[in-house]
Amino acid sequence: MAGAGREYRRVAAWFGATGMTNTSGRGSRSLKTRVKTARKRSNSSTRWLQRQLNDPYVEKARAMGYRSRAAFKLIEIGEKTPLLKPGMRILDLGAAPGGWTQVAVEQVKPDGKVVGVDILDMDAVPGADILKLDFLDDDAPERIREALGGRVDLVMSDMAASTTGHRQTDHLRTMALFEAAYDFACEVLAPGGAFLSKVFRGGTEQTLLADMKRKFETVKHVKPPASRPESVELYVLAQGFRGESEAE
Ligand SMILES: C[S@@+](CC[C@H](N)C(=O)[O-])C[C@H]1O[C@@H](n2cnc3c(N)ncnc32)[C@H](O)[C@@H]1O
Repeated sequence: MAGAGREYRRVAAWFGATGMTNTSGRGSRSLKTRVKTARKRSNSSTRWLQRQLNDPYVEKARAMGYRSRAAFKLIEIGEKTPLLKPGMRILDLGAAPGGWTQVAVEQVKPDGKVVGVDILDMDAVPGADILKLDFLDDDAPERIREALGGRVDLVMSDMAASTTGHRQTDHLRTMALFEAAYDFACEVLAPGGAFLSKVFRGGTEQTLLADMKRKFETVKHVKPPASRPESVELYVLAQGFRGESEAE
């Protein structure tokens, strides 16, 4: 796949140019910058800031013009399992601030189509159509279908509910987004299409997994190196959609 190969070389070249070693695939995670606690900043904000300042993916995203370090999760998933190629039609759910959308646009051009959806405001990404809406709203499916104008080859969802601090509640809310994305994917995917979605560890419920295995040729969980090891996040990747009627 020319697109993914080109992207991989660009990332590898960046690591080389900065002298960063990445033999583990995880980049250098040694802490260099320490952040002093400040009266107005909570401990968790201090920890977040320190992590950002010392995260090689954050620096790399800035250097390469990506809006988020999340862009590298999609790039790394694609390095292991070719996913994006020129001409594809893609729905990107939970798109803001736009890292995945940027990667998708780069790899599907010149004839592909990318529609990004987020509940938050998001700056335009040249080459993509962006919809600001809550995916769980009743009219969301209709509005997205209209923007897509037909079936798609890939539905990807990096949607995560805003955290409440209560682990089980956060888990359930993000898994509800996953299930809604999966249901919608089954409605809009073209035969042969793929579904990629964020889930939480221990998350993909067995009955849902069994359903996915019926409807797709292959289903697997992936944890790209850019996904922080301490995070419960991982991704489920289902490929080779059989089509609703064949699967029933
Ligand atoms: C981890 S971020 C996505 C990062 C993005 N993939 C990137 O590469 O920049 C998760 C996104 O999901 C969005 N989100 C959460 N709930 C949503 C909902 N109900 N409808 C639409 N977007 C939602 C959030 O607003 C947030 O922008």
